[in-house]
Amino acid sequence: MAIGAAGLLVLIVALVVAEGLRQGRNAKPLPGPSLRELGQPRGLSIGTAVRVDALRNEKAYRQLVAAQFSSVTPENEMKWGLVEPERGKFRFEAADAIVDAAGSAGQAVRGHTLVYHHQLPGWLGGLGRAGLRAATEEHIRRVVGHYRGRVAVWDVVNEVIGDRGGLRRSPFAAKLGPDYIAQAFRAARRADPAARLHINEAGADAINPRSDRLYALVRSLKASGVPIDGVGLQMHVDLAGVPPTYVANLRRFAALGVELAITEADVALKLPASAADLRAQARVYRTIVRGCLAVKACRSLTFWGFTDGRSWISETRSGLGAATLLDAALRPKPAFRAVQRALRR
Ligand code: G3I
Repeated sequence: MAIGAAGLLVLIVALVVAEGLRQGRNAKPLPGPSLRELGQPRGLSIGTAVRVDALRNEKAYRQLVAAQFSSVTPENEMKWGLVEPERGKFRFEAADAIVDAAGSAGQAVRGHTLVYHHQLPGWLGGLGRAGLRAATEEHIRRVVGHYRGRVAVWDVVNEVIGDRGGLRRSPFAAKLGPDYIAQAFRAARRADPAARLHINEAGADAINPRSDRLYALVRSLKASGVPIDGVGLQMHVDLAGVPPTYVANLRRFAALGVELAITEADVALKLPASAADLRAQARVYRTIVRGCLAVKACRSLTFWGFTDGRSWISETRSGLGAATLLDAALRPKPAFRAVQRALRR
């Protein structure tokens, strides 16, 4: 039966009101001490990736970020294409909103990321060697300078190693040669001498060709006096779990005299996830936390989002999801309790 124009209007108004109520709703408090409280006596900062739209529009999301985490990483808002969509025209509003919220919540900010081959602005593609070098220096100078004193740690370069352990053939490597990495660190140091500068890598969480190459790179950067302070290991994993060489890998990097951070932890599940999958996921999270706690140099552990309602896995990996600590309704999953217990031990 047709509902007619008036009926349709009533329906739309009802949906808008329901969404408004949902967005204005308070978070249901999570059980037990917060993750940030639990991390504090262990000297571990506990972070999450955050999104500006959710922070702005969803009260419950905002409350949980502030209550549970001592550090935040903008998931996309500081990437080159978003911050400098046109050359020399910087748009800091979205990232500023995250940094301001973090300031109010007493949180550290991890800046993500200055030089990355994804989410680049279109104009960069047209530049030759000299142009790209100048644009990269300028980008780093302006972005790091803008957040001087407010961003504690920068992922200066992101995913510079390829899957098989060679340097990735990014536009930067192709046009500037491998030295672009050292130049990026030097530019970041000049722009904010107090910020800690990290290299952030995917798939290098255990001993494998990729982490071997990363290790050699970090060692050679240190030996050449390049200002690098730390190594971020992302840890996007699944129920295959964390390889047994995880802790040994952390230890070898620590022996280079750098600080370590787990920067993007999540554990993807095949959908629909069973209760057994959720329990197995909790065990993987527990292993991630315990490994970081076992190595003194591992000072920071960031989850790549904290709710399944806001996770890149659910959004971009077909058939996968349920990768975070809370479900889409912001209720704790076994993984959340496992992280609490691992921090408390
Ligand atoms: O902003 C546009 C929006 O205008 C458009 O309507 C919408 C339609 O698809 O797309 C939006 O852009 C999306 C963007 O996230 C912001 O939401 C992109 O499509 C989407 O590809 C992008 O995905 C991000 C991905 O990096 C891109 O490389 C994920 O959110 C983000 O979680 C992910 O994060 C990376 C880290 O930076 C580095 N390590 C791996 C990690 C996971 O891939």
